[in-house]
Amino acid sequence: MEYRFLGKSGLKVSALSFGSWVTFGEQVDTDLAYEQMKTAYDAGVNFFDNAEGYEGGKSEEIMGDVIKKAGWKRSDLVLSTKIFWGGDGPNDTGLSFKHIKEGTEAALKRMKTDYVDLLFCHRPDMHTPIEETVWAMDQMIREGKALYWGTSEWSAEDLRIAYEVARREHLRPPLMEQPQYNMFHRERVEREYSKLYRDIGLGTTIWSPLASGLLTGKYNDSVPEGSRLDLEKYSWLRKILIETEEGRSKIEKVKKLAPFAKELGITMPQMALAWCLKNPNVSTVITGASTVKQVEQNMSAMDVVDKLDDEAMDKIESILDNKPGQEQDWRG
Ligand SMILES: NC(=O)c1ccc[n+]([C@@H]2O[C@H](COP(=O)([O-])OP(=O)(O)OC[C@H]3O[C@@H](n4cnc5c(N)ncnc54)[C@H](OP(=O)(O)O)[C@@H]3O)[C@@H](O)[C@H]2O)c1
Repeated sequence: MEYRFLGKSGLKVSALSFGSWVTFGEQVDTDLAYEQMKTAYDAGVNFFDNAEGYEGGKSEEIMGDVIKKAGWKRSDLVLSTKIFWGGDGPNDTGLSFKHIKEGTEAALKRMKTDYVDLLFCHRPDMHTPIEETVWAMDQMIREGKALYWGTSEWSAEDLRIAYEVARREHLRPPLMEQPQYNMFHRERVEREYSKLYRDIGLGTTIWSPLASGLLTGKYNDSVPEGSRLDLEKYSWLRKILIETEEGRSKIEKVKKLAPFAKELGITMPQMALAWCLKNPNVSTVITGASTVKQVEQNMSAMDVVDKLDDEAMDKIESILDNKPGQEQDWRG
């Protein structure tokens, strides 16, 4: 395993990490979660990702139980949770000081830990002033409930505002962002945030590196029974991912990538994960899995990164044909 600094901080996260969205509490029970997390941990994963909104808190409970059972040293782990969707009451969602404090405290209880290493604002909240959210996240750090804070799916503009507010008010600034990033979803990580890496030392913990499994090739011909896009609860995801014109054109690209992966002697999941790892602004690639075998397959992506040399990356680029435009360098 390779360990990368999270942005400009002194914290090291495993380049491949493991998260529990959709899976824990839905497809994966505590016993299977234990086997999965142990497989990831044994492969060198130190960062485990969660959110208060995953299966109504069940996912955090399962992760907490697994960590307790495994008896891992707390200092060997980087744990996260994300606050935004905490329940149905008027103050159970969003990024008010009240919900950040109460949501974080409830999450820590479910995870059976005194603190999370990383605390994320799971989405931007248009109803709460950014100043209030920055102040609340700083307060969670002062109270020892989190060590670093960050955002998920915030615009570069909002991130910069949060950073400036924090600097002006002598509060902790956001360190990391959790954006979607994969071969089909590139704009934010490759273009929108590009100045933030340099200016504020932003780290990234990227999600859905396999586009929910699309990039494994499993949806090329049909929707396999029991797969994520077969789950009734996630029919909205199936609609977005494969039942639109855009979705169908993505599958055509996966079909073109597959023979090239074979030529390189690697699998599609390995290629898609290694492609994310090639980006130096990616601090960690959060993988997800419904079986132990998938965890093993995904961890093996670490061994094939070198196969994606410049020539291979160019070939992939020509198949994807979706590279975000870059700002013009007028110095020539
Ligand atoms: N911040 C956010 O808003 C946000 C949003 C989403 C996710 N996340 C985080 O990012 C993590 C990863 O996201 P993700 O689960 O969407 O990642 P992903 O890698 O795009 O999708 C994972 C899913 O793909 C399938 N899969 C994985 N490995 C496979 C393999 N080797 N072969 C075949 N199928 C495979 C499995 O689904 P099936 O077997 O069921 O088909 C698995 O659950 C989450 O657990 C969560 O921690 C954060």
